[in-house]
Amino acid sequence: MIKYLGSKRRLVPVLGDLASAAGAATALDLFTGTTRVAQEFKRRGVETTATDIARYSEIFARCYIETDASEVNKDDLKEALTRLSGLPGEAGYFTETFCVESRFFQPFNGERIDAIRNAIGADYRDSPLYPLLLTSLIEAADRVDSTTGVQMAYVKAWAPRSSNPLELRVPELFVGCGAAVRGDARDLVGTLGDFDLAYLDPPYNQHRYFTNYHIWETLVKWDKPEVYGVACKRVDCRDYHSPFNSRREIRPALEQVVASLRVSHLLVSFSNEGYISREEMETLLRRHGEVRVIAVDSKRYVGAQIGIYNPQGKKVGRVGHLRNTEYLYLVSRDGLALPRAGMR
Ligand SMILES: C[S@@+](CC[C@H](N)C(=O)[O-])C[C@H]1O[C@@H](n2cnc3c(N)ncnc32)[C@H](O)[C@@H]1O
Repeated sequence: MIKYLGSKRRLVPVLGDLASAAGAATALDLFTGTTRVAQEFKRRGVETTATDIARYSEIFARCYIETDASEVNKDDLKEALTRLSGLPGEAGYFTETFCVESRFFQPFNGERIDAIRNAIGADYRDSPLYPLLLTSLIEAADRVDSTTGVQMAYVKAWAPRSSNPLELRVPELFVGCGAAVRGDARDLVGTLGDFDLAYLDPPYNQHRYFTNYHIWETLVKWDKPEVYGVACKRVDCRDYHSPFNSRREIRPALEQVVASLRVSHLLVSFSNEGYISREEMETLLRRHGEVRVIAVDSKRYVGAQIGIYNPQGKKVGRVGHLRNTEYLYLVSRDGLALPRAGMR
């Protein structure tokens, strides 16, 4: 799984326990990101739909959620990964943009990423293996990047892991069916049908996923876009807008999403550092059922841990606080009570 801001690693077992205890047979993970939570639902036998606006999330969801492990030819998958792993590197757009113009990856790995991505597009575009191979490539690239976890900047000296050779691994798949859909949560939510349980984990402040993970977007779209700035961001990053990154727009956007959901149980994650306070969130959700809150103390992302540097590598900011609180809101509709849960 890739490094991802706001990824719910610690909360996953709690969310899984809640889904099981609620007896959910179907679930919706509307801001699925890495698909970590959707994977946990699927692993527990829940038929899950995973949606997000990001192209890379759609690829992860097609791989981990939509693909039924029992229908994958494991020999074909291993053979394809072995073949792709053996391709000689070829310097192209990726190497030039992310290893020469910027320094997100070492060139010897960038050249292999170029060659493998070209081959996936040319030879597997219409194959059921396509999302599996692309997921394997993104996750392999993430293990050898030279960042602190977001792609707004790369670190000054090569990160030690960036010297490791790119290694394609077989994605760990689960048996069962599910669905992957890409789109804006506000447009999708009314079109997806009924679910026993929905999990909402929207962005909670100005940090935009599209720009923080622009390289994965480009690796999936493979449109070789014009880029700008030190971090070589896609030019369309300039136009990207999500209401969930706006202090003014997030509340009406979330209200619209929650009101359009057709579910019995709703779980919402939100940070105490977000644009909606705990009191406001409770008021918003109470219109839809009884609300309970679990507060989880968690470590802030690594950028907050190491401080702020200017492009010359000089420390310019102070390290602020290192911990925040993640709230998990449990909402039960139709008078059904969600079971009590504790952190492990
Ligand atoms: C906090 S992250 C979700 C992390 C996820 N739960 C995980 O564990 O990996 C928020 C997600 O919302 C997505 N997003 C942002 N704006 C969106 C929108 N308007 N509609 C749908 N998804 C959106 C981002 O791409 C990002 O993946």
